[in-house]
Amino acid sequence: MRITKQIMQVDNKTIIISGASRGIGRATALLLAQQGANVVITARNVIELKEVESEGQGKIVAVPGDVSSEVDMERVVQTALDRFGRIDVVINNAGYGVFKNVDEISVDEWDALMATNVKGTFVLTKAALPTLKAQGAGHIVVVASDVAKRTFAGGSLYTASKYAQEAFMGALRKEVRPFGIKVTGVYSGLVDSHFHAKGHGHETSQNWLKNEDMAESMLFIISRPAHVVIDEFMVHPLEQEY
Ligand SMILES: NC(=O)c1ccc[n+]([C@@H]2O[C@H](COP(=O)([O-])OP(=O)(O)OC[C@H]3O[C@@H](n4cnc5c(N)ncnc54)[C@H](OP(=O)(O)O)[C@@H]3O)[C@@H](O)[C@H]2O)c1
Repeated sequence: MRITKQIMQVDNKTIIISGASRGIGRATALLLAQQGANVVITARNVIELKEVESEGQGKIVAVPGDVSSEVDMERVVQTALDRFGRIDVVINNAGYGVFKNVDEISVDEWDALMATNVKGTFVLTKAALPTLKAQGAGHIVVVASDVAKRTFAGGSLYTASKYAQEAFMGALRKEVRPFGIKVTGVYSGLVDSHFHAKGHGHETSQNWLKNEDMAESMLFIISRPAHVVIDEFMVHPLEQEY
């Protein structure tokens, strides 16, 4: 009985999700909207973003933008405030991977990935923080990866970005806890999103986590009672050794 009640606690909460045009972010937006949350989504692909909005039965608002742009992320936050008057949860999810050996990575590839995965997490979090602090409550979720805690050949750029998110969260958590703000790192293994080179739905990814598994994880994380914070959430497909 208690569990059912708590799972419904996202009802009418205002939740911002970056990288919600497809993959994990899209599935999370749709599930949270279905559970009654007011969801503000952002990403660069306007057509895909608007499709998610139209599937949200009036509970999803699309604000196109690049997560590394301060102007764009301030617009996302302002839209949430104008429409719903508060912000309960910010899910920093936008991100992508480049998997090459160090001597094959261009400086432009390095800068672009860091701008999305690391700077983007900072920019959206910074835009929302004054509101969360003034409320004396809020929840910042960062979709990192299990490679925020381990490395592999060919993963220098991507793992560096995820380790950076991990360090960012660690310091942020200490800064914002006195303001009643929760910080959760999500560390997942392989997810059958659009992230991987072989694309969504490939035969090699059929036993991986589904986008919907990640959405349910997100719902669980953000629907805990006010006094409970999940600092770290690690999840893998059973077939993946970690
Ligand atoms: N899939 C996995 O196996 C896996 C495992 C661990 C962690 N993750 C993490 O999960 C997060 C979500 O990825 P996913 O697996 O769902 O991949 P995905 O299906 O490719 O979705 C990535 C999302 O990020 C958005 N995005 C990328 N660059 C952006 C930018 N500059 N500004 C705004 N949005 C941007 C994309 O939208 P636009 O292109 O429209 O901007 C898209 O909505 C990422 O942070 C990724 O590192 C994934």
